[in-house]
Amino acid sequence: MANSNVHVIDHPLVQHKLSLMRNKEASTNSFRRLLNELSMLLAYEVTRDMPMQEVEIETPLEKTKVKVIDGKKLVFVSILRAGNGILDGMLSVVPGARVGHIGLYRDPKTLTAVEYYFKLPQNVEERDLIVVDPMLATGNSAIAAVERLKELRPRSIKFVCLLTCPEGVAALQKAHPDVPIYTAAIDRQLNDHGYILPGLGDAGDRMFGTK
Ligand code: URA
Repeated sequence: MANSNVHVIDHPLVQHKLSLMRNKEASTNSFRRLLNELSMLLAYEVTRDMPMQEVEIETPLEKTKVKVIDGKKLVFVSILRAGNGILDGMLSVVPGARVGHIGLYRDPKTLTAVEYYFKLPQNVEERDLIVVDPMLATGNSAIAAVERLKELRPRSIKFVCLLTCPEGVAALQKAHPDVPIYTAAIDRQLNDHGYILPGLGDAGDRMFGTK
């Protein structure tokens, strides 16, 4: 997709792990482990342009200036419940990050997003938000989440998913062209039930073993 605001992370490690997750025979245990590993790799890419600051330290030999990131300015915002599967991996790479949660469920008839929970750290206007949800399908949840987050005037918002489809990318970009999308793959299409094809099924059910 020739769009500078969509980043497909096609690193072989990412693609390999994603392929293993797609297999319907993958156990809950391995699905969760792979998602955790993949989340670390996605975090690596999405934080590539994170601002750094110089601090003075002393090595065993002399004083020097080194660069560090301010993890506390970063907030991972999980769209419940499947977004939580991405948090652990990302937090193991950026342990200083804060965490927010947005509870949205898809109305099964209209496929629109309904909010039932919203909790974010204070002073969002000083922070960079990275919204996480494994699947960007219809885009309804992502659009609603970003809309709600923009009310708090954060410094920046990025969206990270494992998998998306042309319909999901188009919808999120139309509603929020300023929000870059990071994904491991853009699949063929959405089906009539709002599932991504070929996809990996219901990410929440597969990571929590609820089906
Ligand atoms: N949510 C999922 O978990 N899977 C899809 O394919 C679409 C939305």
